[in-house]
Amino acid sequence: MDVENRIPVVSQYGSVDPAPPSNESDVTILKQLLLDENVQMFQRMRAVFSLRNNGSDEACLALCSAFITKSALLRHELAYVLGQMQNNVAIPTLQERLTDLNEHIMVRHEAAEAMGAIGDPSAKPILEKFLNDENIEVAESCEVALDLLNWCKSDEWNETDW
Ligand SMILES: [Fe+2]
Repeated sequence: MDVENRIPVVSQYGSVDPAPPSNESDVTILKQLLLDENVQMFQRMRAVFSLRNNGSDEACLALCSAFITKSALLRHELAYVLGQMQNNVAIPTLQERLTDLNEHIMVRHEAAEAMGAIGDPSAKPILEKFLNDENIEVAESCEVALDLLNWCKSDEWNETDW
């Protein structure tokens, strides 16, 4: 393809991501890149999307281990892709991020929505706990996530109820 005509592609998850996946596929190397605060943000995001596309538990846990990063933007992106991956091994980490009142609101919001997207009802109690969070963005995200979990398990599939 002519480089001048390159445009962002739609991922296997149907999203147009802020960075294309890294060409690197080794999970250990990708994790190192992701955790390195001296690496350019674009390259760290490329590692995020490559790990997401990998889809394994190992890749999911590598993403979970990166919430120690200083960048709230990157932590938000991690929560978002964990929702896309729909792997419930991420739930303990996402619960921890939602519960941490020192965490950035943007990250807490995305952790709540990711738990809805994963679709595992085990996340319900924690989402209910923060339904009245003083930060409206967090409270609304918990509400949406709970509605999604309830919608997923409703056997009647009656759209008029929703
Ligand atoms: Fe978000």
